[in-house]
Amino acid sequence: KRLAVLLSGRGSNFKAIYKAIQDGNITNAEIAIVISNKADAKGLLFARDVGLDARFIDPASFSSREDFDKHVVNILNSKQIDLVCLAGFMRLITSYFINAYKDKIINIHPSLLPSFPGLNAQKQALEYGVKITGCTVHFVDEKVDHGPIILQRAVPVFDDDDVESLSERILKEEHKIYPEAINLIVNDKVEIKGRRVIVKKS
Ligand code: GRF
Repeated sequence: KRLAVLLSGRGSNFKAIYKAIQDGNITNAEIAIVISNKADAKGLLFARDVGLDARFIDPASFSSREDFDKHVVNILNSKQIDLVCLAGFMRLITSYFINAYKDKIINIHPSLLPSFPGLNAQKQALEYGVKITGCTVHFVDEKVDHGPIILQRAVPVFDDDDVESLSERILKEEHKIYPEAINLIVNDKVEIKGRRVIVKKS
């Protein structure tokens, strides 16, 4: 299967996916393209360094979010992409994009959804005072951080945590569940039934 990774920054989840493919923990998949809306995203530079097709698409060249997304979709089509992985892609995507890649776009979010959607999920968790938080891989639908949940992993919140220490603990689990989720999907192990994602037994 051919993956696209869309990112805007550091790209640690992208690197975890890349490594999982190299290590054989994701089978039947290759990263066909990495797209960033930020020219200087660390993740994009890494992708370029390792020889992947790595493209900066400048939002300033488009008059609307839909025009930007149409351009992205054209590129994804031309690359025959099977699965789009959002990995710290800091843009809301339009219904045009979602419909063009229906049930083929996934995202990672640093909380146990439906708690703490949106920005700064780790800070939200700390401020709320939860004792357990975590991360979620989900299909992308029209609402932010809302689509059917594929995998989740919990982590404890400690009394002396700050945003940084908590984010780091969550990120370690992100780097495990994102590749796991991708491996399930590309090997046709997941089925969406309404809001529920069923993992088929082999
Ligand atoms: C991660 O915390 C992810 O859950 C969120 O954005 C962050 C991206 O980090 N969607 P990285 O660029 O993958 O290092």
